[in-house]
Amino acid sequence: MKGTILVTGGAGYIGSHTVVQLLASGHSVVVLDNYCNSSPVALERVARIVADETGTPARLTTVEGDIRDRATLDRLFAAHRIDGVVHFAGLKAVGESVAQPLAYYENNVAGTVTLCQAMQAAEVFRLVFSSSATVYGEDAPVPYLETLPRGRTSNPYGSSKSMVEQVLTDLCVADSRWSVALLRYFNPIGAHPSGLIGEDPQGIPNNLMPFIAQVAIGRRTELSIFGDDYDTPDGTCQRDYLHVVDLAIGHLRALDALTFPGVRAYNLGTGNACSVLEMVAAFEKACGRPVPYRFAPRRAGDLAAFWADPSKAAEELNWRAERSLEEMMVDTWRWQSTNPDGYCS
Ligand code: NAD
Ligand code: WQD
Repeated sequence: MKGTILVTGGAGYIGSHTVVQLLASGHSVVVLDNYCNSSPVALERVARIVADETGTPARLTTVEGDIRDRATLDRLFAAHRIDGVVHFAGLKAVGESVAQPLAYYENNVAGTVTLCQAMQAAEVFRLVFSSSATVYGEDAPVPYLETLPRGRTSNPYGSSKSMVEQVLTDLCVADSRWSVALLRYFNPIGAHPSGLIGEDPQGIPNNLMPFIAQVAIGRRTELSIFGDDYDTPDGTCQRDYLHVVDLAIGHLRALDALTFPGVRAYNLGTGNACSVLEMVAAFEKACGRPVPYRFAPRRAGDLAAFWADPSKAAEELNWRAERSLEEMMVDTWRWQSTNPDGYCS
């Protein structure tokens, strides 16, 4: 079914890629974003990509505002007949969440509660939520499977995702009109193949892929690899990296599947694990430049290795990550090299 989808946080990294897919597949989209970690330029580029791909203007409306602001939400739901919500808006820096837990619980947990209250008042009950593999906690066996219980999280960011999952689960128990997909992302990287949109972190990147890309372009001198003595084949941590375009497509599939009553969780990952050293080597190959690195002490809270069992998403959503590690690297490099300073370039 094609309809009008509200995308909160739609100007951000994953949101912008998802808005492209929604528009290109025939949905109308309303983006609500306060731009606290993104640029409106991203949405101008989204509209350009879609117009180029489809030959028709993108049916995209943008609203600058905050999910914590109930009046803004009520106005938005009154002005647009929303069929479903894809909810990305939130804060996502793990280290910052340790220093500012209240900001994380306010934005991520209270913000989601306010959004759901506004949805309920507007009688919109279909929701896709950006969750994270971090909800499996520190002690879960790999690969992670949705049948595992949520575990002990090691930082307020992770706890906020786990709490929102619980809020949405309780909501679905209370009211069978709700249909909610909890999408547990593994490690999204890469960029749209046009090179027009990509990840644009403010300040020093926390995450591996943008850090590697900024070293390759010369914005930073070297990568610090956090730990070389993990119990993994080469001693560096392993993660399940997936292409952000595959992840974006996963949201389309989840929206299509929202005919069930209640809540369902889905892992969105490739099922493969890749080490930090393998990531560096793959990026060097894609960009044709060396990525200098040194080994540094382990980073607090890092797990040695985790990856997805993605079979539930394959069976129930008909979704699989299809893009290769090479494509993830080539697309990241295209974005980084044509936009060396991100959206400020
Ligand atoms: P991002 O920071 O690029 O995007 C989040 C967007 O939400 C930004 O545009 C930001 O301006 C907006 N926003 C934040 N708080 C808001 C508020 N209160 N009201 C309105 N807009 C607000 O992050 P991303 O990487 O695109 O992540 C999107 C979602 O996916 C987040 O919820 C994040 O926690 C989750 N997630 C991300 C990853 C990852 O590795 N990137 C992994 C797992 C889960
Ligand atoms: C990957 C690997 C680092 C930077 C985090 C959040 C998770 C999810 C995605 C989002 C690790 C190593 C990194 C660097 C390095 N959240 N590394 N040098 O930690 O798996 O997941 O982002 O919203 O909840 O925890 O991803 O990209 O930070 O790190 O050696 O400069 O790269 O130690 O092994 P992570 P990451």
